[in-house]
Amino acid sequence: MSSLLVPARGWFRAPSGHERTWIGLALCWCLVLTLMMPFWHFRGKQNSRGEAYLVTPAGFQARVDKFIAATKVGEQNGIPVVSPAPGGDAYVLARMWSWSPILKLRQGETYRVHLSSLDLQHGFSLQPLNMNFQVMPGYDHVLTLTPTSKGTFTIVCNEFCGIGHSTMIGKIIVE
Ligand code: CUA
Repeated sequence: MSSLLVPARGWFRAPSGHERTWIGLALCWCLVLTLMMPFWHFRGKQNSRGEAYLVTPAGFQARVDKFIAATKVGEQNGIPVVSPAPGGDAYVLARMWSWSPILKLRQGETYRVHLSSLDLQHGFSLQPLNMNFQVMPGYDHVLTLTPTSKGTFTIVCNEFCGIGHSTMIGKIIVE
């Protein structure tokens, strides 16, 4: 019960010596990290603009189904492969435990990639570029994306989402 008692008067002693140095160092580093956030927001090329809209999971799935029907060019392991029009919208739907469809994009073209989840929170992590975004049900998060290199990029889920989490792997192909 002692923690409920009021501390004795004059309990506070200003930090001094090494303690003061370490608190100062920690404070400086906090300030550096805080300033890096706006810096990388404007300077970095892998940041989201934070463009997001409210959407119901069912509404998002309906848009994804329509998108797949209009742009499908193939299939890999039962997952549709789509080739969206450059400059246009593309969709990636996260669910336990898959990413769909597989996007086939063209290098140097810009796309608006819509991300959302059908069930719970997933983590979109594009490898090996290490671009990371949260994928939330109820939110349509739009990434304006211009692929700068060709190849096959893997989407891994980096937000624990249940028993199949480690198998939740998707793909983006850039040609
Ligand atoms: Cu989805 Cu982990």
